[in-house]
Amino acid sequence: MTSDNEASTVRPTPAVIAIDGTSASGKSTNARTVARELGFAYVDTGAMYRTLAWYCLKKGVDIHDMKAVTSACRRWKTRLANVDGQVRLLVDGYYPEREIRTDEVSAAVPHVAAAPKVRDWMRDQQRDCVRFGDLVMEGRDIGSNVFPETEFKFYLDASLSERSRRRAADGITEDLAKRDKRDSERAAAPLMVPLGAMVVDTSNHTPAESSELILAEVRRRLHLPPAPGPEAAA
Ligand code: DC
Repeated sequence: MTSDNEASTVRPTPAVIAIDGTSASGKSTNARTVARELGFAYVDTGAMYRTLAWYCLKKGVDIHDMKAVTSACRRWKTRLANVDGQVRLLVDGYYPEREIRTDEVSAAVPHVAAAPKVRDWMRDQQRDCVRFGDLVMEGRDIGSNVFPETEFKFYLDASLSERSRRRAADGITEDLAKRDKRDSERAAAPLMVPLGAMVVDTSNHTPAESSELILAEVRRRLHLPPAPGPEAAA
C-alpha cells in the first residue's frame, strides 16, 4: 500500500502537457522552454503535418486530392525518433528540418492537415510518442483530440496585430487570419480551446513570462517545488 505522500508523487503513466493555440501565439517557444525546464521530450506536431506536405509535394501527389494524400500517408516509410529531447518523424530515415519551413510547404500544409484519415494516422503516431516518456506536445488539437484525458492543457493566443508583428519580425509575411480560419473551420479536429484548458494570452507577455505561467501551473499539479528564485543562484 502506498502512503498519501507516495501516491501524490508516483505517476504510473507519462505526463503529457498539451500546448495548443493559434499561429504565432508563441506555442513553439513556450513548449520548448517548458520541455527543457522539466526534462520532458518535446513534440512539434505541426512539423509532422509539414513533413507530410513536403513529402506529397516531392512525390508529385496532388495536395488537393484527399484520397491521394491519405494513400501517400499510408504508404510512406516513417519512424519516430527522440533526437536530443525532440521527437521527430523521420521519412526513410531522414528529417527534412529546413525543407518543411518553406513558403511552399506552409501553403500546402493546411490542405494535407484537413484530411480526416491523415489526422487519424497522425493522432496514432502522436499517442505513440509516450514511449519516449513525459512529453510536451504542441499543436492545434492535442488537448481536444490527441490526449483529451490529460490534465495539463494550455491554449495560447495573442492579438492578431501582435502575432502578425512576430511573424514579420521573423521575415515571414502570412495571412494569419486566413490560416486561423482554415484551422478552426475544418471538419476534422478543428482548432478550439480544449475543455479544461488554461488560456494564456501572450500579447503582453515576454516568452519567459508566459513559460513561467505554464511551468508554475504544471509544477503545482505535479506537486513539484516551485522554481528557485534568483536569490538561490546568488
Ligand atoms: O504549427 P505549424 O504552423 O507548424 O502547423 C502547420 C499546420 O499544421 C497548420 O496549418 C496547422 C496544422 N496542424 C494541425 O492541424 N494540427 C496539429 N496538431 C498541428 C498542426
